[in-house]
Amino acid sequence: MDDLKKNFINKCDELLGSSNLKVLDRDGWDSVREFSVDWRKKFVGKPLAVCFPSSSIEVKKIVDIAIESRLSLVPQGGNTGLSGGATPNKNHEQVVVCLKRMNKIISTDYENRTITLQAGCSLSQLQTEAKKLGLFFPLDFTSREDATVGGFLSTNAGGLSVLKYGSARSMCLGVEVVLPNGDIWNGLGGLRKDNAGYDIKDLFIGSEGTLGFITSAVVSLVSNPTQKYTSLLISKDLNSTLNFFCDVQLKSNNQLTAFEIMTDGSIELLMNYFPELIPNNFKKYKNSIFILVEISEFTSKNQIDDFVQSTNFHDYFQECINKGLIIDGILSGNKKTTDRFWKIRESVTYASAKDGPQVKNDISLPISSIPSFVEILTKKLKQKFPGVRIINFGHLGDGNLHFNIAPPIFSITKLSSEERKIAHEEYIKENERIIRRCVHDEVVEFNGSISAEHGIGQLRKDEYARIKSSTELAIMKKIKNTFDPNNIMNPGKFL
Ligand code: MLT
Ligand code: ZN
Repeated sequence: MDDLKKNFINKCDELLGSSNLKVLDRDGWDSVREFSVDWRKKFVGKPLAVCFPSSSIEVKKIVDIAIESRLSLVPQGGNTGLSGGATPNKNHEQVVVCLKRMNKIISTDYENRTITLQAGCSLSQLQTEAKKLGLFFPLDFTSREDATVGGFLSTNAGGLSVLKYGSARSMCLGVEVVLPNGDIWNGLGGLRKDNAGYDIKDLFIGSEGTLGFITSAVVSLVSNPTQKYTSLLISKDLNSTLNFFCDVQLKSNNQLTAFEIMTDGSIELLMNYFPELIPNNFKKYKNSIFILVEISEFTSKNQIDDFVQSTNFHDYFQECINKGLIIDGILSGNKKTTDRFWKIRESVTYASAKDGPQVKNDISLPISSIPSFVEILTKKLKQKFPGVRIINFGHLGDGNLHFNIAPPIFSITKLSSEERKIAHEEYIKENERIIRRCVHDEVVEFNGSISAEHGIGQLRKDEYARIKSSTELAIMKKIKNTFDPNNIMNPGKFL
């Protein structure tokens, strides 16, 4: 180990104590493994060390030592990201800084409807804290138990309620950041209106840890919905799904909180890996589209012009069936069924993980063009890559599809499951780059974006450089260079 690395380790040992510093060469691979491999196990890094600071002052000191030792830092929260944005490179030279020990609620403010908390608090911890105040923190996604505030802000995460409440950015009123030069910027004022100059916090939100460490944040809360109506519905194709979406959106007047879809490839995976979740009378719809609709009631019972007050959902969905917008559906009558519907939707990712590697996409499109986009791209992919499976699901209401591509099923009977796994891995390795290009070229054609909520990270870095205009890339690089001229913060990620 060279002297600069030794200097870093010695000083960090002194600062944090050896139990809060794991050094690969000293403590072994097992001690750093879970911080060196991403959630999907696609990116495997080899860090010099992993640090676990407990305060922004300690983070600041780690940055000072890294500057002195000319080492770069990789911020990490719950390590639930889906683009490799929190995974170190393989060069045994980067230091992961995991903020999970920084998990304190700093203050709550009922009148201002805010919570100020450290970046290592989990999303579910924040949701629970909001509940204690009788309020609601609406950001939500499957990895809520592990994902942290710093992580969801750094990636501007989206999830299951963006349609009504927006992405993480729209729920954040302030951040504290340790900058790449070791300064600490306290932007925790928590004001709802502040037009004094540039909105600096918005530069850090979604910057994937390339401009500094978000160490604390102030988030805003909203009123709890008084009632939720969740239904699992079936439509015959994407055109009718889109028409149905427009109808519900119009009628529900801002009270539609989720409109999620799963198309045939995703349903097939669910049927293969979690058949018990699918209602028996829905199994015949495996070639159709499953739609999860949630409408929330926010207003008092006596507002007569309110859609959810005046409409009997059963009648409304029947009307939609008569109009041909949907073909069948179940309206949940209790929490158990509601939870099951959400479990179906959230299990697509787990079914995919069980199935093996895929080319994962996270695209954003004008909602109106989704049916033609899917039709054109499916045709192209099936022609160029015979047998591939399209695992298309996601947040249609936000224009965000996870249009994932799984390898063809190689004659299961002839191959052992281990051989099949290897064949799948090889197929993805060989074709990933070209499949991804094919998908993204179509996204560009339709004026979409190559990431809606997962970020660029390592996964889409090359594509980002290929697709973004030179003007936009130059602006991004100037911003990065202004904050981090020595490229200490998370190098090798999106820029
Ligand atoms: C989802 O919408 O379920 C998540 O973004 C996870 C995923 O894409 O696998
Ligand atoms: Zn998603």
